[in-house]
Amino acid sequence: MGRMIVGACITLFVIAFSFFVYFSVKAFNLEATQAKESYSKPKYHLVLVPEEINNDYWRLVEKGARTAAEELGVTLEYAGPKQANLEEHINTIEMAAAAKVDGIMTQGLSEEQFTPLIDSVIKKGTPIITVDTDAPNSNRISYIGTDNYYAGLLAGKALLADTDGEMKVAIVTGRFDATHQKLRVQGFKDAVKEQERVKIVAIEASQITRIQAAEKTYKILKEHPDVNGFYGTSALDAIGISQVVESMGKNNDMYIIGFDVLPETVNLLRNRKIEATVVQKPYEMGYQAVETMVKILEGKKVSAVNHTETKVIHNKDLPLQEHEMIEGAGR
Ligand code: BGC
Repeated sequence: MGRMIVGACITLFVIAFSFFVYFSVKAFNLEATQAKESYSKPKYHLVLVPEEINNDYWRLVEKGARTAAEELGVTLEYAGPKQANLEEHINTIEMAAAAKVDGIMTQGLSEEQFTPLIDSVIKKGTPIITVDTDAPNSNRISYIGTDNYYAGLLAGKALLADTDGEMKVAIVTGRFDATHQKLRVQGFKDAVKEQERVKIVAIEASQITRIQAAEKTYKILKEHPDVNGFYGTSALDAIGISQVVESMGKNNDMYIIGFDVLPETVNLLRNRKIEATVVQKPYEMGYQAVETMVKILEGKKVSAVNHTETKVIHNKDLPLQEHEMIEGAGR
């Protein structure tokens, strides 16, 4: 009898102990899981590679991308050349691919170099989205940005509508080797080509800097003193153009149309130092690029081309709505 009681006691003890161990382990695991969840690792590591990191325009693309990254819980790296440089741009993309990041967002800057590069990175397993500048013949999964040919066409049509009489027009373009800049020039040329009164007499490249835009404007005005219209195709060109036009006292007879709505550009428009500018949506491009890349990584369908809004504005369109401003946190 005594033995039976001892046996029962031992059995009870073993059962109770097993329960204790089982639930303790469970509780611990639960805490560990909860702790893990509260410090959840970002889902994906994405990289945005612009042609120039400190350019005000690209800082806005970055801002949009960062907002989306925060909302979607992904890590965003922003890396690229300090000053526009094709080789460094390509190296940055190659390094990001070698580091096996989950997705790369960049410009399809030139057909010749970027199409094979994009294709080889995608082949090795890293998805790429083009932003701001497309590489339509590559296997990029999606393009997010302005329809650059259409934007150029709009600029040309604005010049036709805003001017009359003989126009000798000079173009200052960001770079000769970049697809989007070429499209902006082509669209403009096509818009004015039927008009006898409008002649394009010079074209120079600024390497997307305002200093070179100013230098090239000076050179153009020295070589063609009869120029009475300028078209600047990258964000800082009209700023450089108007600086020189003003310093040469030619402001009154000069028509200037530029690109983008940086705060300085808006000021020039407000003070009628430039006549018009083509609006782009850099913040929106960055935001949508991250959003689209996450969809791709989650296996969702995305469209191949997503054109962001573009239009021409004049002094009479000021002040801009918050969502139209380029500082525009408002999308
Ligand atoms: C273009 C960008 C370029 C920037 C340069 C913008 O108009 O869309 O590609 O990098 O100008 O300032």
